[in-house]
Amino acid sequence: MRLDLSPDDLLSTTRAVRKRLDFDRPVERQVLLECIELAVQAPSGSNSQRWHWVFVTDPDKKARLAALYNRVFATAYTPAARDQMDEAGKRVWSSAEYLAQHLHEAPVLLIPCQWTRPATEGSQAAYWGSILPAAWSFMLAARERGLGTSWTTMHLQHEEEAADILGIPYARCAQAGLFPVAYTKGTDFKPGPRRSLDEIVHWDQW
Ligand SMILES: Cc1cc2nc3c(=O)[nH]c(=O)nc-3n(C[C@H](O)[C@H](O)[C@H](O)COP(=O)(O)O)c2cc1C
Repeated sequence: MRLDLSPDDLLSTTRAVRKRLDFDRPVERQVLLECIELAVQAPSGSNSQRWHWVFVTDPDKKARLAALYNRVFATAYTPAARDQMDEAGKRVWSSAEYLAQHLHEAPVLLIPCQWTRPATEGSQAAYWGSILPAAWSFMLAARERGLGTSWTTMHLQHEEEAADILGIPYARCAQAGLFPVAYTKGTDFKPGPRRSLDEIVHWDQW
């Protein structure tokens, strides 16, 4: 399945999909591999390509990862914190809560990884800049194929436990996120609310 989105439509409608993930429709391995083929065309520092891509489809492993995620979610998303939010924030909250409750039901969870752990000193930009563009390219390629994803990072507070579940060599390899992947219910998505360019663009002077 290809949506034939224009580049601009693809870039402006690839959303964090949570409530519209179709948990009942399987995702073919071949489609996931196509997305990875495109993702690894992204840049990496010195073309180092130290990325690894861990797809999780095993129900027991998905449930254990979702439990780690929820351990963090429960501490971050408290009713008191929710009450502080404006309406837009509450909408994202409701969506995030839904995902937390259903994460284990996603047909696929993807954990992008990078070989060697991030240095505690020196360039974080070079380190993360060598994996995150590829991860986003994966999401764009997925969207073009009717798949939805959502960037998440909460489970990383328990990264070592997640590594144990999946046999990832934690001491040598860092996880960059955890993305549910599923076909979307409907394929129409709109540009999201964003700050105006006036607030964020600077010419020659801050
Ligand atoms: C670094 C990063 C971490 C994120 N972590 C989470 C997360 O743990 N859980 C979640 O539901 N969404 C997470 N998100 C998704 C954001 O909430 C989402 O990208 C943002 O609300 C914009 O959504 P939109 O592109 O659909 O408009 C994360 C996004 C990024 C880039």
